[in-house]
Amino acid sequence: MFTTVLHHLKSPENAGIIVRTHVAFGGRQLVVVGPEPWRFKKRAQAFSRHFEQLCEVVRLVTDDEFFAWCARQGCTPIAVEISETSQLLPDFAFPSHPALIVGNEGTGLPPEFLSRCAHTVMIPQFGPVACLNAAVSCGMAIYEFNRKRPTDRKAEGSKFHLSDTEKRPTKALAAAR
Ligand SMILES: C[S@@+](CC[C@H](N)C(=O)[O-])C[C@H]1O[C@@H](n2cnc3c(N)ncnc32)[C@H](O)[C@@H]1O
Repeated sequence: MFTTVLHHLKSPENAGIIVRTHVAFGGRQLVVVGPEPWRFKKRAQAFSRHFEQLCEVVRLVTDDEFFAWCARQGCTPIAVEISETSQLLPDFAFPSHPALIVGNEGTGLPPEFLSRCAHTVMIPQFGPVACLNAAVSCGMAIYEFNRKRPTDRKAEGSKFHLSDTEKRPTKALAAAR
């Protein structure tokens, strides 16, 4: 079980990509932290494909509210961020219910916020690029947490098989597009 957290994200495209990945990996709540109440509008939905309607979206304004929410939910806040004290993601032993937090496109997660998280993990990089895109980083962290999770979902052509019960809401979302 995992939760995905968007901390002050600005790009609707990034938010949309993260939503789709979160739902595809069976994430629990999707938490949006920031002063503006986040609304999934057209630009984000071109990427989310309306899948925000298939998960519980929690909107929180302040960092205090976010850390109190984590304590109530029993989830462990894990910052996905480059810092001098971050652990390398491939070596990280995840707790059973992580809240995977990505930072905004301009400034990332502030040091004061990082100091309140239980852990900070970073994705190793090998080429001449200082940091990754927020949605890409989030996808990698979600993948890494789920990497060893057993699956019996079969491929059907170039997609994964969905049961009839799973197809129903997906069709309704497609019709709403
Ligand atoms: C574009 S980066 C933030 C900007 C960057 N901190 C800077 O000072 O230019 C957006 C977010 O992606 C995530 N991120 C990017 N590269 C990462 C990496 N190698 N490991 C972990 N997180 C990463 C972090 O959550 C970060 O806050």
